[in-house]
Formats: sequence, structure tokens, C-alpha cells
Amino acid sequence: MQVQLRIQRYDPERDEKPRWEEYRIEADPMARVLDLLHIVKWEQDASLTFRRSCGHGICGSDAMFINGRNRLACKIRVDQLGKKISVAPLPGLPLVKDLVVDMDTFFAKYRSVQPFLHNDTQPPARERRQSMAQRARFDDTTKCILCGACTSSCPSFWARPSYVGPAAIVQAHRFIFDSRDNGAEERLEILADSDGVWRCRTIFNCVDACPRGINITRAILEVSSAIVERRV
Ligand code: FES
Repeated sequence: MQVQLRIQRYDPERDEKPRWEEYRIEADPMARVLDLLHIVKWEQDASLTFRRSCGHGICGSDAMFINGRNRLACKIRVDQLGKKISVAPLPGLPLVKDLVVDMDTFFAKYRSVQPFLHNDTQPPARERRQSMAQRARFDDTTKCILCGACTSSCPSFWARPSYVGPAAIVQAHRFIFDSRDNGAEERLEILADSDGVWRCRTIFNCVDACPRGINITRAILEVSSAIVERRV
């Protein structure tokens, strides 16, 4: 089928502001948006710039604003979008070039919640064991691939870019509720800050945007409740 693909382009050395360019592509309905971008880059305009790595929904590097919603270009297919497809960079993050945004502040927020295991106790001879119920407690948030689709779709983040954002809270949740971790207090203190969990307005954009189907709003509310319970 013939697809009309509009791509937001921006070259900082040439353009004063982003502009749209249109490409006509003969594509299989089962082709993914990432395949269309490859066709443009390899056959029509080699200067088109975008990120991608795994090509299979694992690395999180090709999150983009596709037909009005944040999605992974490697997961969304032409037959799910129709003949007219528009692709723009993730909103709310500084634009670098074409579909590439600057993720430095995003990853700084990720690091700020200490996304690693805290446990200074002597490890047992074999491993730190967990029951199935203890592992299930944080299973949902282990699925995050740090694509940034949630944070960059969040109106609270657009309004206040210093807000730590849903992705960082999801990563904090993954450790706060891990029975092997001893750093929950420290993380809850960080997230009780004025740029922490209280900025969430339960708008659910993050849940709609997450390509892994994580119930992000629930995770944020669980972290908020843990902060309140700790204070009580
Ligand atoms: S390219 Fe890795 S998630 Fe899409």
C-alpha cells in the first residue's frame, strides 16, 4: 500500500525551527514505522536522523510521537496507523536533530532515584532468596525499558520540567518494593521532594504511552502511599 509519511525535520545548522517533510512510500501493511524510516534514510534522504538499536522493543531508543501519541517506532505497524502517518520527536525534551531529542536530563532523573540494589548486609552463601509473592510485588515495574515515552507525554512534566517524572518513579518503585533492598527510606525521601511524586495529577497519559503496558499511575500512587504511611 502507498503510505503518506510526514516527518518533522530539523537541522540545527540550517533550520531556524522544525519543518515538516512528506515522503510517499510503497509499504507492506505489516511494516513497522521503523521500517518506513529506514526506507526514507536508505533510499530517499540519508540525512534523516533518528535513534534505534535493537529493532524489537527492548532497548527503548526509538520512542517517538507517532500519529499524535508516544510509541516505539519498532513496535507500531502501518496497518495499525493507516495510510497517513506523521512522526515527530518526543515532546517536552530539547530537540537535537530531526527525531533525536536530548535525553541527558531524563537520565539524570533516573540516576537521582538510585536505581540499584542497596544492601550492605553479608550476602548468604548462595543468593538472596525471595518468595514468589515478594517477587510479584514489583514485577510490573521491572518491565520498564527507559524509552521516555511516559515522562515526555506527561503534562505535569511539560509544565514543570524539574518534575522527576513517571519513568524515574517507576524505576524507584522497582527497588522500593524489592524485599532484598534496604534503600527504600532514602528513595522515599528523594521522592517526597516538591519535584517528586506529588507532581503527578493522575492524568494517565503515561499509562497510555507505555509500550510495555506498565500501570505507571498505580506505581506512582503506591510510592506516594508509602511516603504517607512512613510519615504517619
Ligand atoms: S529499537 Fe530498541 S526498542 Fe525500538
